[in-house]
Amino acid sequence: STSYTVDVIAGDGIGPEVVPAAIACVDRLAELHGFAVDWRERDWGSEHHRRHGAMMPEDGLEQLRTGDAIFLGAVGAPDIPDHVTLWGLLIPIRRAFRQYVNLRPVKSLPGRPGPELDMLIVRENVEGEYSEIGGRYGQGTPDEAAIQEAVFTRRGIERVTRFAAERALERSGTIVSATKSNGIIHTMPFWDEVVAEVAADAGVRVDSVLIDALAARFVLAPASIDVVVASNLFGDILSDLGAAIAGSIGIAPSANLNPEREFPSLFEPVHGSAPDIAGRGVANPFAAIWSAAMMLEHLGETDAAAALERACFGALADGVATADLGGEATTAEFTQAVLGRLSDM
Ligand code: NAD
Ligand code: IPM
Ligand code: MN
Repeated sequence: STSYTVDVIAGDGIGPEVVPAAIACVDRLAELHGFAVDWRERDWGSEHHRRHGAMMPEDGLEQLRTGDAIFLGAVGAPDIPDHVTLWGLLIPIRRAFRQYVNLRPVKSLPGRPGPELDMLIVRENVEGEYSEIGGRYGQGTPDEAAIQEAVFTRRGIERVTRFAAERALERSGTIVSATKSNGIIHTMPFWDEVVAEVAADAGVRVDSVLIDALAARFVLAPASIDVVVASNLFGDILSDLGAAIAGSIGIAPSANLNPEREFPSLFEPVHGSAPDIAGRGVANPFAAIWSAAMMLEHLGETDAAAALERACFGALADGVATADLGGEATTAEFTQAVLGRLSDM
């Protein structure tokens, strides 16, 4: 039978609580659908940093290169600066493996008030505002300053927009582009031009919306939004906003994709390590489990992927919910509800 090698970086905080939930679901599906997964557990993260002075081994990226996919929990601990933990693990993986698309769906949850939502946020994932250019200057002097250069390339904007346009062709035929070209930001008029060119070439309409107004539209009229294409930072913010509108940031999944499949893609919840609730067994594993469904889809296990997404939403429809969604279920209880639905199918 088909076998996949998946590198697992459970990481910090609630990462090691929600990742086993996702693994249990995938293992159950492997039995039911006749495939196998070889999980290569990596003890990388903040504890690795405390012990060895680095988030991952020096040849960490080389080790990941040979796998079919990477599954990550979360990274970030209160005792180590975030720029150290994130630039030492997650960001280098996204860049080295050219995962230039960060795909983040938003769907409404069963049993919750509000409009029917079905959005797809396509976030640029390797350039833009998250550039390495800049730094801190004159530390400890009255002239202290910090400078960040945002780097947008034609190639970078084109490829992420093309990905969004291809999704839109199968959906509403329109992409919403998050922009800020009315300000004095040099990069955004360029973003608008390239987005418009790619969209015209692909045969989709562009609804170019200023980011501030788009944030309001997310809240006031989210059902009017289908596929969103956004820069790295705008997409980051919109994806937590979208998750919150649907109900909780504990539900939002993501796929960091290398669409050309030259390198493994990375799947992870949108949320972070949530140190405020870590260690209590109450974190919502929905985002991690849904991310695992996106991974199965990417690996070609389409039926298993669909079954897992159905089981996840089905468990909620049965009224099983963790505290972030107003319920009382623990991480383990919600996971059991999903596993039970998988076996029944
Ligand atoms: P966070 O997403 O960790 O938490 C924000 C709030 O949402 C908290 O109140 C938390 O309890 C709640 N929450 C998040 N996930 C939840 C879940 N699954 N179930 C229930 N509640 C959940 O964001 P933060 O507090 O801004 O960041 C904490 C740390 O995580 C920081 O170090 C940050 O850099 C890091 N971070 C990492 C990633 C990643 O690894 N991809 C993503 C975001 C933040
Ligand atoms: C995310 C996270 C990361 C990002 C941080 C932790 C660097 O917020 O994946 O949404 O901004 O990309
Ligand atoms: Mn984020």
